[in-house]
Amino acid sequence: MYKKLGDDSHFSDKNIFIYFGINQTMKNPDSILSKNTLDKDDIIALLELDEKDSLKLFAKATEVKSKSVGKITYFRGLIEFSNHCSKNCLYCGIRAGNEHTHRYELDDESILYAAQFAYDRNYASIVLQSGEISSTRFIDRIDNLIKKIKELSDNKLGITLSVGEQSYETYKRWFDSGGHRYLLRVESSTPELYNRIHPQNAHHSFDVRMEALQNLKKIGYQTGTGVMIGLPWQTTEHLANDLLFFREFDVDMVGMGPFIEHSETPLYEYRNTLLPLKQRLHLAFKMIAILRIIMPDINIAAATALQAIDPMGREKAIRYGANVIMPNITPTTNRKNYQLYENKPCIDEGADDCVSCLEKRIEMAGDSIGYGKWGDSRHFYERMKNAGIFTSEAE
Ligand code: 5AD
Ligand code: SF4
Ligand code: FES
Repeated sequence: MYKKLGDDSHFSDKNIFIYFGINQTMKNPDSILSKNTLDKDDIIALLELDEKDSLKLFAKATEVKSKSVGKITYFRGLIEFSNHCSKNCLYCGIRAGNEHTHRYELDDESILYAAQFAYDRNYASIVLQSGEISSTRFIDRIDNLIKKIKELSDNKLGITLSVGEQSYETYKRWFDSGGHRYLLRVESSTPELYNRIHPQNAHHSFDVRMEALQNLKKIGYQTGTGVMIGLPWQTTEHLANDLLFFREFDVDMVGMGPFIEHSETPLYEYRNTLLPLKQRLHLAFKMIAILRIIMPDINIAAATALQAIDPMGREKAIRYGANVIMPNITPTTNRKNYQLYENKPCIDEGADDCVSCLEKRIEMAGDSIGYGKWGDSRHFYERMKNAGIFTSEAE
């Protein structure tokens, strides 16, 4: 018996998804939390815990985090260098079809300036993020930027890429030039739900997304994925399957956050079917906490979307299991244009403001900051060691 997340009274094609009543046979969280391996029913029961009972889940996740990856949060300086996108995901504010978005692209100089800022502040890692473009110009440009960033930082700055689906050859080329982590969210690991939140065409194919994730792993990237939480039509069973997918796929990093409806997107039509924002946020915390318990040594990012709902959203996520934060170091003039969802935080703050603000926030959450360390996923090192690829420890 699985709970559907929102109110389904506003759409007509109910037959596509099966909704069940509230789980009547809720198991005791203590007995579930004391198990060594959680199965799907256990995960669903945890996802359906109320606020009071979920405190036990959060306490367990805090304990697991402290024992496995320690009470350290790593920074990744996030550079949203372009909001041009060839895709039309039905949930996203910068989709190609949104004519109200003012499109921008940072020049190389500004990107390198931001990378230098991250390096000088001892962040040790940056994320280059943009919409999905696959032109030769774009591919060459990223390649060139990776090399220049490696050069300016004496090979020290870690580079995570997050620029969507690309060919095997492109991923390989960027890897050979120095990109070592890649973030590509699966958005939902359930093909039917994936199809409902994307246009139905070959450019938005679930299978292509899966293949891209496989390629990243094969090439040797530390591979990160993630989902949105509280989507229309999403059930707790879908979310449990997402967590099981992360485990089966053996991911190194996960970034996931609440879905936040954007008025200039097609999914806005379903806003009345969604869980209230606060409940979506609570569900996102439960997802993070369960993930920390079932995959103790991976890196989990506290997504910025958490903070769009609750000013302390990311700090709470850090307490409940996350260990990575991506401070936005995009020059402020362009931040307002990178609005995947509305109410995005830190739009007016300069990079320096965000740093000192975040330092205080992380201390409040009880962690220290892993300055000067790449903070690679320990999981990745274990995976590589087991494959006989290398034996040195994570820094
Ligand atoms: N709400 C929350 N997250 C969103 N993303 C895109 N649109 C939204 C939205 N409306 C997330 C997607 C994407 C990442 C870059 O941002 O998961 O992969
Ligand atoms: Fe483009 Fe990513 Fe937004 Fe989809 S989610 S429209 S690929 S930026
Ligand atoms: Fe950006 Fe606080 S994290 S201003």
